[in-house]
Amino acid sequence: MNTSPYLRIDYFSGTGNALTACRWIAQNARDRKMSAHIQAIDRFDRHSIKKAPDKALLGFAYPTHGFALPWFMLKYILFFPQGRNAVFLLNTRAGMKIGRWNTPGLSGLALLLPILILTLKGYRIKGLLSLDMPSNWISVHPGLFPSAVEFIVHKCHTNVDRFSAKILSGHRSIPWYFFVFLPLDLAVSPISVLYLVLGRFFLAKTFFASKKCNGCKICEDYCPVGAIRIIDDRPYWSFYCESCMRCMNTCPQQAIETSHSMAALMIALATSLPVSYYLSVFVNEAGLTLGDSAIYISGLALTWLLTLTIIYVLYILMFALLRNPLINRFFVYTSLTYCWARYKAPGIGIKDFKRVKPPS
Ligand SMILES: Cc1cc2nc3c(=O)[nH]c(=O)nc-3n(C[C@H](O)[C@H](O)[C@H](O)COP(=O)(O)O)c2cc1C
Repeated sequence: MNTSPYLRIDYFSGTGNALTACRWIAQNARDRKMSAHIQAIDRFDRHSIKKAPDKALLGFAYPTHGFALPWFMLKYILFFPQGRNAVFLLNTRAGMKIGRWNTPGLSGLALLLPILILTLKGYRIKGLLSLDMPSNWISVHPGLFPSAVEFIVHKCHTNVDRFSAKILSGHRSIPWYFFVFLPLDLAVSPISVLYLVLGRFFLAKTFFASKKCNGCKICEDYCPVGAIRIIDDRPYWSFYCESCMRCMNTCPQQAIETSHSMAALMIALATSLPVSYYLSVFVNEAGLTLGDSAIYISGLALTWLLTLTIIYVLYILMFALLRNPLINRFFVYTSLTYCWARYKAPGIGIKDFKRVKPPS
């Protein structure tokens, strides 16, 4: 069996789960006297993406977002140069602990899209791993208890060791559950698409800083996609945000919250106004049938634009109003994250997210 002398993993990681998995694999590679290099794709420039050496085993690691992969990682893979290397894909998902079980998340298109793109670019898919690390989605649930985190991370470490033993020795590792969950992953694919075209923009505009914010700019400096701007000494989240949870989980003041009241208002307005506009103008009044696809699609595009505009305008309004201490307090007290513990992968600190230049 051919083994590669060199391992390279390009990763995106919001709160350190994917990074931790990369470090485990890299350590296993070094134990086998392989040269191993892992690099964050944070704020990558598409013109400086380096091809991996011909014989290298190449890995891509990233979290699952909205039954897909983060748009930023997808973009990276799309811009990645063609090649013939053996490749593995590792997506971390939302693991939970129920009794003695580490319950799985769901990948949707998180593996399928990169498999398709990389195969078309000439790469050979050698390994797939969906790793159910502790869920980091603090906007929708509190951080897991430390005992649950420890349990889940231990299980995942064992899985990664088993996986890397195979791929580092040149064998294929495509697990049986990939095929078992395939119908379910395909069934949720419309949600994955919806997340990529709309959901991520909506989530980006639910973050705000409470009065605890002291303007230290850590969130701006460490945002992996450069989505945060400091305006009037307060962070402002642009549509580039991937909702990776890094800012919320690393803010030393714990000042970053998700506004659930604003999220509810956005959902209410964005589902009622654009959808009724679409139905009335493009389906009812024009007397269209479902088969009239050109007008149907332009109607959808307009509805999409209208939805984004509503979200954008509401966020600008909230950002302006938040300057008022009373209104700021209202948003804080109507945010569930105000009471919730944060999450970072064990052993991971802010220093682990420092951007370093990739080797030439
Ligand atoms: C915005 C967002 C969406 C997510 N969507 C999914 C999902 O669809 N399926 C899933 O299993 N986990 C989902 N998760 C959980 C993360 O994929 C998971 O916690 C991952 O391990 C985080 O890795 P990281 O620390 O490297 O960013 C989501 C998390 C966030 C923040």
